[in-house]
Amino acid sequence: MKFSSVALASAAMGFAQATPLAERAQITDADVLNYALTLEHLEAAFYQEGLNNYTHADFQKAGMQDPFYANLKETASDEQQHVQFLTKALKAAGASPVEACTYNFPSTDVKSFLALGSILEGVGVSAYLGAAASIMDKTYLTAAGSILTVEARHSAYLRAALGEAPAAQAFDNPLDFDEVYTLASLFIASCPESNGKLPVKAFPALTMPSMAPVMTGSKVDLMVAGDMMNTSDIYAAFITVTGPVWATLESTGAGEYTVVVPEGVAGQSYVVLTKGNKQATDDNIVAGPAIVEVGMPNGPMGMGSKCGQSGSQASSMSMMPSMSMPMPSASKTGMPSMSSGSMTSSSASASATPAFNGASGNRASVVAGLVGAVACAAAFLQ
Ligand SMILES: *[C@@H]1O[C@H](CO)[C@@H](O)[C@H](O)[C@H]1NC(C)=O
Ligand SMILES: *[C@@H]1O[C@H](CO)[C@@H](O)[C@H](O)[C@H]1NC(C)=O
Repeated sequence: MKFSSVALASAAMGFAQATPLAERAQITDADVLNYALTLEHLEAAFYQEGLNNYTHADFQKAGMQDPFYANLKETASDEQQHVQFLTKALKAAGASPVEACTYNFPSTDVKSFLALGSILEGVGVSAYLGAAASIMDKTYLTAAGSILTVEARHSAYLRAALGEAPAAQAFDNPLDFDEVYTLASLFIASCPESNGKLPVKAFPALTMPSMAPVMTGSKVDLMVAGDMMNTSDIYAAFITVTGPVWATLESTGAGEYTVVVPEGVAGQSYVVLTKGNKQATDDNIVAGPAIVEVGMPNGPMGMGSKCGQSGSQASSMSMMPSMSMPMPSASKTGMPSMSSGSMTSSSASASATPAFNGASGNRASVVAGLVGAVACAAAFLQ
């Protein structure tokens, strides 16, 4: 069911009657809403482009039988309505909503489009989930929750269409602002200057030369762009709602690692490298997250042959012949901010860990890997 524009307007009015945007030391509710709006703009643009690029017949040819296309159009419309809703809510609260940026989506056909869509929806779920605890005003919390549940349904639908488990585990993984920004900035080419900056930063990219869907216990190669030569005491953690799940990490060269996928993570999972293994927070994350799709032993992802570790690298590369995306360094990307009071001195677009250089790294290869991983699963459709 769609929000009618009347319902939308009255919801925005509800925001207007709420108390002024709650503020906390670091990030305001307005920041959170603009952060959400930034992601919604990205998703809305993504689906708009996809629907412009590929016809109903293209989707059918790729194995997506009706009513898939109609549902996809509904999904696109949902994202557009999320944009409108958040924009109105911010205006009603006297804040200035961010505008759409320009994007670089590496999808080149229906399957890579759907693969990337699935990943973006999953990141959206993780973003709303991770932001929830930062929302001060309960009115916004419910509104954000009503978006989160819809993003989760989009995610489940696309995952199922790609042959993945719709809900691969009992709990979704929350990502914090900086973690999400690290991923979102892969797709943002530039933003209007008027958007300003949100108090978020990107960590150095963590790239995966092979991004095939993997099983628990299997090894995943990770690379950090930049200089990690003198960095010791590095650990790998998968982010879950109950805290980091530490994974065995082996150094295989300068800035090169192999991580073993631990028990306790499934579906769209996120691994970060940390300094020390007491916690995995913004204070000690040194790279990532990278997205790892952890499959089921007996599911399509586990069938292995077509999507094996070695084959997938080639397939993800060949899927992305024109992956030379202009990837700006994340700090220039300019996540938006609105109120002058929204940035605090400690907040930080401050840099990543000094031991690391070249933070923006080889983003194109990260994205190619992301898309290759899921598109690989899509091969089972036919
Ligand atoms: C749509 O097509 C353009 C031109 O080929 C391409 O650059 C863009 O990435 C495509 N977008 C999506 C979402 O597939
Ligand atoms: C690593 O540390 C050594 C000793 O402190 C220093 O000489 C060297 O330049 C450092 N290397 C890098 C790449 O930072």
